[in-house]
Amino acid sequence: MKEWYKDWFNSPLYLKVYNHRSSEDAEKLLSLILSFIKPKKNVKILDSACGAGRHALFLAEKGFNTFGFDLSKTLLLEASRKARIQKLNIKYLLTDIRTACFKTKFDIILNIFTSFGYFETDEENFRFFRNAKSFFADMGYIVIDYLNPEFLKNNLVSDSTKNVDGILVKEHRYFENNRINKKITITSGVQVYRFEESVALYDFSALKKEFEKLNYKIEKLWGSYDGGEFDKKKSERIIMVLRPCVT
Ligand SMILES: C[S@@+](CC[C@H](N)C(=O)[O-])C[C@H]1O[C@@H](n2cnc3c(N)ncnc32)[C@H](O)[C@@H]1O
Repeated sequence: MKEWYKDWFNSPLYLKVYNHRSSEDAEKLLSLILSFIKPKKNVKILDSACGAGRHALFLAEKGFNTFGFDLSKTLLLEASRKARIQKLNIKYLLTDIRTACFKTKFDIILNIFTSFGYFETDEENFRFFRNAKSFFADMGYIVIDYLNPEFLKNNLVSDSTKNVDGILVKEHRYFENNRINKKITITSGVQVYRFEESVALYDFSALKKEFEKLNYKIEKLWGSYDGGEFDKKKSERIIMVLRPCVT
C-alpha cells in the first residue's frame, strides 16, 4: 500500500469515477466554515490537497484570493481547466503536502474531505500542520475535515458496487493496523484496473492530543457539514477549526 495516493489520485479513472463529488457538499461545508470565521474579502485562502478544485472554485467565486495545491497533476489540470472556463483567478501549485512551502502567506488554510492520514507515520501525517504555522500571514485559521473512525467502525459497508457511465466499480473496505483500507476494482470494457486506498485512523481524542502538542487550540468542532454538534458515536465527520495558541 506504500504511496498508493500517487497512483490512484493521478489516474484519469479517479476523476471519471469520483467526478460526482459534489460542489453542493463543498458549498455547504465552506458556508459553515466562512460563517464561523467571517473573513474579510481580501484574505488569502489556501486549499491543501485541493484535488479537482471544487472548494477553490467556490471560494474564488466569492471573491477570496484563492490558492490550492495537490500532488496529482491530473486533478490539478482539471482544476485549472474549470477555473479557466469560469474565468476565475486561482493559483494552483503541484507539490507534496509533506514538503510544501510558499512565498505567499495565508489567512486561512483548509484540509478538506479526508485529505489527511495517508502516510505511514504520525510525524508525516501531522507534518503539514506543524509546518503550517509558518504559512500564516498573521494568526490564521486551519480547518480539517476528516472521517470519524468511531462512526466508521460501527457503520462500515464492507463491499459495494456501482456503475458510473458504463464503468463498473467494486469497492472492498476493511480495517487493518488501525487504518481503513479500500481495494478498488474498476472494469471498463475488457480492461480491469486495481487501486488501493489506505487512511490512518485517528479518533477525536488522538487528533486533539496531537494538535495540542503542536500548540493549536480547537476554536470550533462540528460533526457534519450541516453544522451538527460532534458526537463521538453518531457523527460521520470530525470538522475542526484550529488556531495557533498565542504563547
Ligand atoms: C480525497 S481527495 C480530496 C480532494 C479535495 N480536497 C476535495 O475535497 O475534492 C484527497 C486529495 O489529496 C491529494 N493528495 C494525496 N496525497 C498527497 C500528497 N502527498 N500531497 C499533496 N496532495 C496529496 C490527492 O491527490 C487528492 O486530490
